[in-house]
Amino acid sequence: MRTQPLVQKSIFDVADWESDAEFGVFPQGARAKDAVFAPSVPPEPVLVPGKRYLFKRSKRSYPDQFWGEIIAYRIGCLLGVTIPPAFAAWNSKTGHCAALIEWFYDENTESFVMAGDFLQMMHKDFDRKLGTQHNFEDNMVLLRMFSIRRVLKEHDWRQWWIDALLFDALIGNTDRHQDNWGFIFTRSGQNVSCRLAPLFDNGTSLGHERFTDRVNLWNKIRFHRYIENGTHHLKWSLNDPVQGHFELLKRAVDEWPDTRDAVRTKLNFSVDELFAVTGDLLQIDAVTPLSKDRFTFILHLLTERLALLKAIFL
Ligand SMILES: Nc1ncnc2c1ncn2[C@@H]1O[C@H](COP(=O)(O)OP(=O)(O)OP(=O)(O)O)[C@@H](O)[C@H]1O
Ligand SMILES: [Mg+2]
Repeated sequence: MRTQPLVQKSIFDVADWESDAEFGVFPQGARAKDAVFAPSVPPEPVLVPGKRYLFKRSKRSYPDQFWGEIIAYRIGCLLGVTIPPAFAAWNSKTGHCAALIEWFYDENTESFVMAGDFLQMMHKDFDRKLGTQHNFEDNMVLLRMFSIRRVLKEHDWRQWWIDALLFDALIGNTDRHQDNWGFIFTRSGQNVSCRLAPLFDNGTSLGHERFTDRVNLWNKIRFHRYIENGTHHLKWSLNDPVQGHFELLKRAVDEWPDTRDAVRTKLNFSVDELFAVTGDLLQIDAVTPLSKDRFTFILHLLTERLALLKAIFL
C-alpha cells in the first residue's frame, strides 16, 4: 500500500550527534559510513528521538550519489514497498554530505542476518565479493525452508520478492546482491522467528554513475539503450546468465501469476506523482545539492522505466 514519505524541511547537521563507537566507521561495503544517534529532541519530527541512523556518504567519484538513496526511499513509498526512511544530512565539522538512513531493526531485541550468510551454507564456495552464484532459485529454497519451519513470519515471501524486483526495475538498481537483502531475527524464550528486512542499499541506481554534462546530450534512443543494458544482480538459476531488470521481473511474475494484480495496483501512478513525491528535494540547501540537471536526468530515467513497466503489466 502506498505510504506518505517522511519529508524534511531542511538538511540535518549531525556534527553534534552522538556517534556510535561500536560501529565507528562501518566496516561492510564500499561507501564510507558511520552510525549516529538522533538527539533526544530532534530538529524535525520526521526523526525518531535517540534512534540510530546510518550516515552513508557517496562513492568518492560520484559526490551527489547519496541523493539516490533519498529519492529511492520516496519512490518506494509511492510504489508501496518498504524502504528505511532516508534524509539529506551533512556534518558541518567535516563538510561531508550523506544520506541519513533510519536503522531498520531494534538492536536490543533483534538481529540482522544478511541472506549471503545462509546462501554460503548452501554453497561453500559462494563468492561473497562478486556474488556470481546469487540466484533466484536458491533464494526460493532458503525462503521456503524458513517458511515451512514457521520461522519466517512474512505473510507472502513470493510477493516480497516481486516487490523487490519491481522496485529495482523502476530505479534501475544493479546491486541487489546476497548481502543487500536479509532477515531480521527475534528471539522470544525458546522461539526464534524472522521477517524480511526492508529494502536497503538502494544507491547503486538512478544513473548515479553518469555525469550530467554528458547525459544532457542523450536522445531518446540513447536513453533506451542505457535502460535496456541495465541488469539485475540476481540470476534466475545458478547456471543462467544475468538478466535485464524487466525480463527478470516478468519471468518471476509469470512463475507466480497470483502476484500480477499487486504489480498492476502498485504501478498505478503517474509521472506527475513521481515529481510530486521528490520535487521538494531540489529546495534543500546543501554543500552538495541535488542539482536541477541531476534531478532532470533521474526523473527522465524514472519516467521511461515506468512507461516500460506499464507496457508490460498494465
Ligand atoms: N538502515 C539500516 N539499518 C540497519 N543496518 C543497515 C542499514 N543500512 C545498512 N545496514 C547494514 O549496513 C551494511 C552496509 O550498508 P549498505 O548495504 O547500505 O552499504 P554498502 O554495502 O556499503 O553499499 P555500497 O556497496 O553501495 O557502498 C548492510 O549490509 C547492513 O548490514
Ligand atoms: Mg550493501
